Amino acid sequence: MKKSFIQLVTLTTMLIAMVACKQDPTKPGLEYMPDMYRSPAIEAYVDYGEVRGRTDNNKKRLLTALTPPLHTIPFYGKMDSASLAVNLPYQRLANSAMSLSHGLFEGIERSSEINHYDASAADNNPIPSSAAVVAKGKELYTAMCQHCHGEQGDGQGPMVKSGAYNGVPNYKDADRASKSDGQWFYSIYYGKGMMGAHRSLLSKEEIWSVIHYLRTIAPRVEKVEATSPAAPAAPAPKM
Ligand code: HEC
Repeated sequence: MKKSFIQLVTLTTMLIAMVACKQDPTKPGLEYMPDMYRSPAIEAYVDYGEVRGRTDNNKKRLLTALTPPLHTIPFYGKMDSASLAVNLPYQRLANSAMSLSHGLFEGIERSSEINHYDASAADNNPIPSSAAVVAKGKELYTAMCQHCHGEQGDGQGPMVKSGAYNGVPNYKDADRASKSDGQWFYSIYYGKGMMGAHRSLLSKEEIWSVIHYLRTIAPRVEKVEATSPAAPAAPAPKM
């Protein structure tokens, strides 16, 4: 018992002496199992075919996380038309006045030849409607739109009722309900009049989902052309 105790003390002292005594204070001295102090950190963009001078030809040509090629965009989803349509950049541009009114600095139409808002009338909702999509749309609407537009979409949200804000339309008004899904997308994406742009707040997929929900409270009503000459049509708004 006594002998082994002396042995243990001697051994420990030797070990401490080995590890503790070093001449160069900037060096760690003898390290017992250095891998436990410094694990080989796995990092992106590193060739693991060559680690600490050891070459592993099996790993040498394996792809790790590579930087994406120039001018490409990340794509999530399946290669079906619905995923493609929501992942490709939005083709319609904001008109130049919106850089001032809505703080938009990218994707602005500089020439006035094309009216992208009018063109957006032809865009269809690329996401098929389903109970889940409508539920998601409702959730987003409640969180991000309802305070202005009102629970029923009548333009009487708490912001309006409090008197802090006005000019919010009722989606069911004839000139509002006659707008196509594509135009609604454009207005939500870039903003319209007193409404700000939502393109940095919602993904394209989310906007299309909200539109599916909006259609459940305000179905599209085709516009009936005014025939009475007593009521000339107001000039079409630019955005
Ligand atoms: C700060 C208040 C506010 C918020 C928040 C807001 N809107 Fe609006 N929205 C407005 C106003 C005001 C208009 C009317 C713009 C105009 O026609 O001049 C409008 C217009 C619209 C239109 C266009 C109707 C048309 O005639 O084409 C749609 C669609 C719409 N909003 C959807 C949404 C959705 C969806 C959200 C939430 C993601 C949202 N809005 C959030 C205030 C708001």
